[in-house]
Amino acid sequence: MSSPLRIHSEGFELNGEPHRIISGSLHYFRVHPRQWADRLNKARLMGLNTVDTYVPWNLHEPRPGEFRMDAELDLPRFLDLAAEQGLHVLLRPGPSICAEWEGSGLPSWLLAEPGINLRTQDPLYLDAVEAYFGFLLPRLLPHLATRGGPVIAVQVENEYGAYARDGAHLAHLTALLGRHGVDVPLFTCDQPADLERGSVNGVLSTANFGSRPTENLAALRAHQAAGPLMCTEFWIGWFDRWGGRHVVRNSAEVAATLDEMLAAGASVNFYMFHGGTNFGFTNGANDKHTYRPTVTSYDYDAPLDEAGDPTEKFTAFRQVIAKYAPVPDEPVPAPARKLSVPDVPLPRSASLLGHRDALGEAVTSAEPLTMEQLGQDFGFVLYEATLPVAGAVLLEAEGVHDRAQVFVDEQPVGVLERESHEHAVAFASPRVGASLSVLVENQGRVNYGPAIHDRKGLVGTVRVNGEVLTGWSNRSLPLRSLDGLPFADTSAPTVGPTFHRGVLTVEEPADTFLSTRGWTKGIAWINGFNLGRYWSRGPQHTLYVPAPVLRPGENDIVLLELHAAPHRRAVHLRDTADLGPTDD
Ligand code: GLA
Repeated sequence: MSSPLRIHSEGFELNGEPHRIISGSLHYFRVHPRQWADRLNKARLMGLNTVDTYVPWNLHEPRPGEFRMDAELDLPRFLDLAAEQGLHVLLRPGPSICAEWEGSGLPSWLLAEPGINLRTQDPLYLDAVEAYFGFLLPRLLPHLATRGGPVIAVQVENEYGAYARDGAHLAHLTALLGRHGVDVPLFTCDQPADLERGSVNGVLSTANFGSRPTENLAALRAHQAAGPLMCTEFWIGWFDRWGGRHVVRNSAEVAATLDEMLAAGASVNFYMFHGGTNFGFTNGANDKHTYRPTVTSYDYDAPLDEAGDPTEKFTAFRQVIAKYAPVPDEPVPAPARKLSVPDVPLPRSASLLGHRDALGEAVTSAEPLTMEQLGQDFGFVLYEATLPVAGAVLLEAEGVHDRAQVFVDEQPVGVLERESHEHAVAFASPRVGASLSVLVENQGRVNYGPAIHDRKGLVGTVRVNGEVLTGWSNRSLPLRSLDGLPFADTSAPTVGPTFHRGVLTVEEPADTFLSTRGWTKGIAWINGFNLGRYWSRGPQHTLYVPAPVLRPGENDIVLLELHAAPHRRAVHLRDTADLGPTDD
């Protein structure tokens, strides 16, 4: 079949009729799979005719040659559900996706190659991309619009112009898509100033921006004399970083911008329609001189909030869209029911250092190995060595990626944070031969710019009083399963990183928010589902718990608290999110 979507000098055409794409980003990997249908239905109800998703390579190929596309990664099912709602899909398979996603979606095992040059013609990178596309694309072909599926267009790379000027690489990726049978229109997207560097001959250029549509569309027109005008990322909100405020954008102002864009005849994709959540260890980070990890919530102040409920923006956008396109004559869905549970004690505990053997195996090396050298993607590494001195110790670490807690004989003696550019900590060693433990958290690989070559753990040399410290044990702690951990009842305060466990009794599962107020820093799981990271510095103080994670009756809840648990160890579940203070 020829492509239902066609690109003409005046604009898009779908099945022979003039067409405007009104789309919204919805990342299947940030939403529980049992909620995909609900979110897609709401996309249709807002008046969208299309949804857009990236594809996260690092989840689909967790280890070289080991591909996954099942359960929460069942992209074909997501595409089928979109089609059931009558929605088209814009597919953005990367390989690099930015998206505030761990490492821009590039698998961390690429970084096990010392000299690899990501997002370039480096054969080490290209071979891996070929293998990945060779897995992914054949499985997606039946979902292209040319074969009756919902995918009307596919993006080449992502904002490549912001990364490099390398036409050969973009041409290579374009050819690769073609070689794998992708026969729907292709497009690139870039910020207006980068359009020239990010474009490919014969491929539609589109622009990403959040304001001043007339000016930005004019820049796109100046770059591309004919063809549809499209804003592929209309930034209607923004993401948050730890230690910052919760960022919001005024809905009336963004709705007016949308109106201006649609009046100019442009096609649009809201970034985001529904942000969802960076569950587990999947958040990315930025590093423009200072490393700043993105928080767990990806609410994005979007038309659907993190829990999938329509916000003020949903209504405002729907009203604007209705001026230009048909909008379903159905009521805006009411917010989903929420649970609140005032008190869930966590009486059982297990110390991380005390049960290190149950959590991961150790390998030895002269100098510390990076997480990538250990073949590990996410989580923590526990490094251990013997202190050769008694008395004053100055411990210097060349690279801490990203946050190290230092212990002597299992007692905490300091923290080194990459975000604060810290490299040295001073403490007293009780004796020659005292044990040194350094627990390093991967807080999320950088997803934007050259800093994506972001190796984790202790990177480089560690010195004690100026001498290189050798003889290390390196233990991967991916924390994928806590099954082997022996928990015991205890009411005494715990020292050092400790898992705390309790039972949450629920009659009928519903969405809820786990409040982490009173706790310091760590990770939370319910029924083995990793809800993500919490941190007292905020802005967010709740973790979203999707209803499908819960079951009627008893639910297992575990917090790994890295520092200090409250005196009375308990959590509560709220019926509203607390994403922190805003600037408004
Ligand atoms: C860029 C990227 C997106 C995302 C946004 C910010 O436009 O292309 O993936 O990172 O910035 O949210």
